[in-house]
Amino acid sequence: MSSREHLVFDGCDTVELANTFGTPLYVLSETAIRERCHEVKEDFLHKYPNTKAVYASKAFLTMAMAKIIASEGLGLDVVSGGEIYTAYRAGFPMERTVFHGNNKTLEELQLALETGVGRIVADSESEIDIIEEAARRRGKKAILLLRVAPGVDAETHKYIATGHTTSKFGFSLAGDTLLRTIRRIMASDLLELKGFHSHVGSQLQSNRSHVLAVDALVNEMNLMFKQLGFVTEELNIGGGFGVPQHQGDTRTTLKYFIDPIMSHVTTECEKAGLVRPMIIIEPGRWIVSEAGITLYRVGSIKDVPGGITYVGVDGGMTDNPRPALYGAQYWGVVANKADEPAEKKVTVVGKCCESGDVLMREVFVANTISRDDILAVFNTGAYNFSMASNYNRIPRAAVVLVRNGESHVIVNRQSYDDLLLGEGIPQHLL
Ligand SMILES: Cc1ncc(COP(=O)(O)O)c(C=O)c1O
Repeated sequence: MSSREHLVFDGCDTVELANTFGTPLYVLSETAIRERCHEVKEDFLHKYPNTKAVYASKAFLTMAMAKIIASEGLGLDVVSGGEIYTAYRAGFPMERTVFHGNNKTLEELQLALETGVGRIVADSESEIDIIEEAARRRGKKAILLLRVAPGVDAETHKYIATGHTTSKFGFSLAGDTLLRTIRRIMASDLLELKGFHSHVGSQLQSNRSHVLAVDALVNEMNLMFKQLGFVTEELNIGGGFGVPQHQGDTRTTLKYFIDPIMSHVTTECEKAGLVRPMIIIEPGRWIVSEAGITLYRVGSIKDVPGGITYVGVDGGMTDNPRPALYGAQYWGVVANKADEPAEKKVTVVGKCCESGDVLMREVFVANTISRDDILAVFNTGAYNFSMASNYNRIPRAAVVLVRNGESHVIVNRQSYDDLLLGEGIPQHLL
């Protein structure tokens, strides 16, 4: 990024993008996504043997994104029939996909088996029944990992912490459920178990939680080997590698997370006398968050008592629910005044009928911000488009993929007619 007077993003003038494609507009840099994938290869896949990386598609998925990930040689973590279908329709090599979820349906599991999903991550003992049923119906063996809750309280917002003992995700390590389940899988002709999975939480700023999870995971591998002779071939340690949360934060490298995890898992396996299994990671946010920005057009600006200046933009919690959901913080710049001093303190609000629809509280923007300016918000590539809604019947924003000055619409802006798709009016109301 650099500025003439306008903010430039992956070689594109963002003001021109806003004028051409309308606002709000998600803009995604293909160059930035590929740079992150290269870092994954250099600092993980090529550095450590017997490793795999899958991109967590819940962070951002369209068919174009699936194509980028496929071409970079990474796999894809999918969590619903819709994500499986998107990957499949994009021609993604399905053997590289990993299917998660705490409540997969029989239909989703059959779709997974039909489309050739590589691994199914079973989340509970009761899920084993329907996985087996799906395998029977499809006449195909289901290759499994078992997700465990390693009992780690990750340092992040409670809504995105997932590895604690009372988490809704995964097998508890207490009691004998896991042992019973593995015994059952080992006896089944329709199921094959490759190992374990854990994801401790998202947007982690410290590598501590992953390292703690490794302790619990290797311990469990050891127990299952001793008690059942089960050899763990694959250990998936999830994603969660954080990105800057505040303006000015330095970016966290993948190495910062990976090196201690790899050294710890190697030492712990050696201590237990186990062969280190294949290690799999699932970064989502870390790959795509900083590769995205959102462009809004400024509308109303008003001063209210208490010294607050509200700047209203033409999007909000419909295109980015994260500030309202868990107080996520963002920052931005007036894209058409990118070289102006940013000393005016404002609170940027969305257009939804919710007081909680505040995109950015007390941020500094160009002193002369005014109606029709274009506001660019940074770091919106992850969990924005994928979490968007039509609340207040607001059409969803378009997505533009940019690369070295070129731009391509990869998702059209919804029209009002799109909002009515699939609706009907019963005869008696006509
Ligand atoms: C199982 C699993 N893997 C990977 C991820 C990706 O997390 P992040 O985007 O924080 O890397 C998630 C996020 O919820 C997840 O649930």
